[in-house]
Amino acid sequence: MWRNVETAPADSILGLTEAFKNDTNPEKVNLGVGVYKDEGGKTPVLQCVKAAEKILLEKEETKSYLPITGDPLYASEVQKLLFGEDSEVVSTGRAVTAHAPGGTGALRVGAELLKKFNPDAKVWISSPTWANHKGVFSAAGFELAEYSYYDAATKSLDFDGMVESLNKVPAGDIVLLHTCCHNPSGVDLNEAQWKNIAEIGKERGWIPFLDFAYQGFGESVESDRCGVVAFAATGVDFFVASSFSKNFGLYNERTGAITVVAPNAEDGAVAMSHLKTSVRVIYSNPPAHGGLVVATILADAELKKQWLQELSGMCDRIKEMRSALVDGLASRGVEGDFSYITSQRGMFSFSGLSDDVVKWLRDNRSIYVVGGGRINLAGLTRANIDYVCDSIAEALKG
Ligand code: LMR
Repeated sequence: MWRNVETAPADSILGLTEAFKNDTNPEKVNLGVGVYKDEGGKTPVLQCVKAAEKILLEKEETKSYLPITGDPLYASEVQKLLFGEDSEVVSTGRAVTAHAPGGTGALRVGAELLKKFNPDAKVWISSPTWANHKGVFSAAGFELAEYSYYDAATKSLDFDGMVESLNKVPAGDIVLLHTCCHNPSGVDLNEAQWKNIAEIGKERGWIPFLDFAYQGFGESVESDRCGVVAFAATGVDFFVASSFSKNFGLYNERTGAITVVAPNAEDGAVAMSHLKTSVRVIYSNPPAHGGLVVATILADAELKKQWLQELSGMCDRIKEMRSALVDGLASRGVEGDFSYITSQRGMFSFSGLSDDVVKWLRDNRSIYVVGGGRINLAGLTRANIDYVCDSIAEALKG
């Protein structure tokens, strides 16, 4: 069967991790995949997660199937986190949520649902966007188009360009938006800009699909949701794909959610019925463990407090590494203003490193950066920062 089939290319992000694992250089550094590392270079299990797992070990009585859309407590805690405890979206029941296997699973379920009812729509993605967005929506059968987002010259948001593009998106098309910590650029909208974009969406009649994978990594869980709140305020239909991979460190538990917000609870119930049929034919029902861990933490005031502290500890370390990188490059006399690295948010910086430099760093220094120059700042530590800065300085001089 496979004799005449060409090998598929390695994944542009997860493929790098495979290459990194096979690299025998003891100084190797992985700045590719968006995974948090602590000062020791490890991806820790959060203490609040350990505590919740202890509770579950005692309490759990069955490994029987979950409902198709997952544990109801999980769905309710997800909604409170996404929209805020007092949100009318939650109290009116116009939002419905299904536990999905990670943010990617959530995007795919949402895409399937949209394809069923809106088969001729185009999906508009930001320029640039996370590489897998293209894969997920193309696999669901959608044609893709791009809207302006990042200005490479100023290394900041091209808000005017974004507004201009989104004003031209036809009604019924789907617009995929990164709610915070834009991947790969680290460049975000402020609250007023989100309100503006939400109004454009309402006026034009396109369908917003919010990818919310980094809640809490921008500023705080509350202020990072201002884009979601802005769309909720318009009363239109929209979708949210969210993930607990990063903010709970639950990467391999595949713990995400797809939330469909309808104009009223009746429409929400219809959406829920179709969410169920979509989930049933893709993975039947979700894996339980990650969702139970998250629900246990969010429903317990003490554990939630501990989680928020651990989350802010991760963010502080990333911010520290942003400054260390800027200072390290300046102190080595690397020409240029790298201050944009400290104003970008989340795990990533669009470093501006060319693909030639990215290749040189990998081939000569075993430093792995995603093509296009996206650096995961969380892969930097006090132990490897000098090595990385020396290497970048050398690559840029060469
Ligand atoms: C990333 O962008 O590196 C992460 O979201 C991991 C992934 O699945 O690509």
